[in-house]
Amino acid sequence: MTTRINLNGDIQQEAFISVLDHGFLFGDSVYEVISTHQGRLYFVQEHLKRLRNSARAISLEIPLADDAIIREIEKTVEAAANLESYIRIIVTRGVGEIDIDPESCTRPNVLIFVKPARLYPEENYTHGINVALVSVKRNPKESLNPGIKTGNYLNNVLAKVEARQAGAADALMLNPTGQLTECTTSNFFFVRDQRLMTPSLDCGILSGITREVVLRLARENGVLVEEGEWPPEILQDAEEAFITGTVKRVMPVTSLDSRPIGEGKPGPITKMMIRLYEDVLTSL
Ligand code: PDD
Repeated sequence: MTTRINLNGDIQQEAFISVLDHGFLFGDSVYEVISTHQGRLYFVQEHLKRLRNSARAISLEIPLADDAIIREIEKTVEAAANLESYIRIIVTRGVGEIDIDPESCTRPNVLIFVKPARLYPEENYTHGINVALVSVKRNPKESLNPGIKTGNYLNNVLAKVEARQAGAADALMLNPTGQLTECTTSNFFFVRDQRLMTPSLDCGILSGITREVVLRLARENGVLVEEGEWPPEILQDAEEAFITGTVKRVMPVTSLDSRPIGEGKPGPITKMMIRLYEDVLTSL
């Protein structure tokens, strides 16, 4: 079980970045988290596309083409030699003056961090988790758009701290107009009247790659799907809920603020989505 870090093509056990890197000073960076299933990377193209969109949105040029990034990822995963890997790709603005203007940064740093995949406790999937509706709001799209995956996650850090203080595994955030958005590192789904519902991209969320796959699988398997804008009160009548993300995959949410959702256990649509998603990963 090892960690390997690829910094601009050099693979080591440890790596160091200058304190003058604007990624460190200002959170001026973009990133993606990729994972393996049975040793194989999955949805890499989708992650690299989102990485490029994020970089474009903050006017950051990624100095490598996608195939070169994939080669570097594969080399790093091979060097780490773990059964299953967690892969974090970070592109920072690079070293510059202590001044928020990125103009002085001439060379972005490309970092590929590989460690053993994190496994969540089995009971998170069999019993589900408790999520807290927190007071910290997701950024409005007009500020740092939550659709851009940057290294500036302090908002989500604060939401997570609030959730922990409430004894919850994760935080569910609203946007400034009071509509449901997503959790700190995952998208949120709920079931109501047998419909699978999830906040739309317009609410100010990350367009999750797992979210997209789950929506497609639901439609292909005859589940009615709705993307929309809803206040949190709608969850009072929810029958089921779950979150999605590359690392957590599909994880049931069985209570909100310690009050059971539906029967307080993973429901049939949640179980179906867990199974369908696992089948997709196995078939890749
Ligand atoms: N997080 N929403 C947010 C705010 C996220 O940070 C993530 C991913 C997701 C789910 O996206 P995807 O299905 O593409 O992984 C939704 C990664 C896993 C992380 O930061 O660790």
